[in-house]
Amino acid sequence: MKIFVSSILDVWNTVKADVRAVGDNDPAFKGGIWGWLEVVFCYPGLHAILAHRIIHFLHATLHIPFLPRLLSHVMRWLTGIEIHPGAKIGKRFFIDHGMGIVIGETAEIGNNVKLFHGVTLGGTGKERGKRHPTVHDNVMIGAGAKLLGNITVGEGAKIGAGAVVVRNVEAGSTVVGIPANVRIKHHDQRTSLSSKVLLDRIEMLEQELEILKNYLKKEAA
Ligand SMILES: CC(C)(COP(=O)(O)OP(=O)(O)OC[C@H]1O[C@@H](n2cnc3c(N)ncnc32)[C@H](O)[C@@H]1OP(=O)(O)O)[C@@H](O)C(=O)NCCC(=O)NCCS
Repeated sequence: MKIFVSSILDVWNTVKADVRAVGDNDPAFKGGIWGWLEVVFCYPGLHAILAHRIIHFLHATLHIPFLPRLLSHVMRWLTGIEIHPGAKIGKRFFIDHGMGIVIGETAEIGNNVKLFHGVTLGGTGKERGKRHPTVHDNVMIGAGAKLLGNITVGEGAKIGAGAVVVRNVEAGSTVVGIPANVRIKHHDQRTSLSSKVLLDRIEMLEQELEILKNYLKKEAA
């Protein structure tokens, strides 16, 4: 029961973070009540990921057969985005535009990952078991990029639009082309973080500083 309740809470927190991620990531987001109404009703990427949170819960926590796959198929029909119920996706996931996205069963995606339309996180057709990519935190994957096989994309990497990636990508690098080649190596990963994430970090540091100041005051008194 405890595990069930904590899983529900976890799903809820993740859903909130996904909704905020749209506002933080989309330059077209205008804010205000109309902006948020657009986010809730006009972003197929958000609909797909919110549905996936529930579908993944039914599949991975409750081990319900068939229904998760059926729901994922319905969501594909509605949004043009196909996410297998088994795919593990971190917080603040953002899909811009959607349509033509395929995320395979054994794909693993970290936090703050941004995807454009036409992205495939697929298998090569030659592997069994873990056969889809693992994408670490703060990665951006451009429109139409195809990432194939059990490869790893390191933290803060950028995959250019239209790239076909069949080998591991180093953290902080930018790859483009077919097959994808490194264009920029080890750019500063901090520039890949969204302003919201940076502001959250600054706020956290300020809070810690305040706690330390209060502690020192008490010690001095
Ligand atoms: C790959 C990407 C992240 C690079 O951005 P960047 O770090 O600012 O790099 P630059 O734009 O300075 O480009 C660096 C070089 O890579 C080339 N390049 C950039 N993107 C490329 C791509 N997708 N495919 C092939 N070459 C690309 C540029 O022509 C440039 O080449 P040069 O050095 O010979 O002049 C970006 O171009 C990209 O593809 N973003 C995806 C955005 C997207 O999908 N948008 C969809 C909106 S609907």
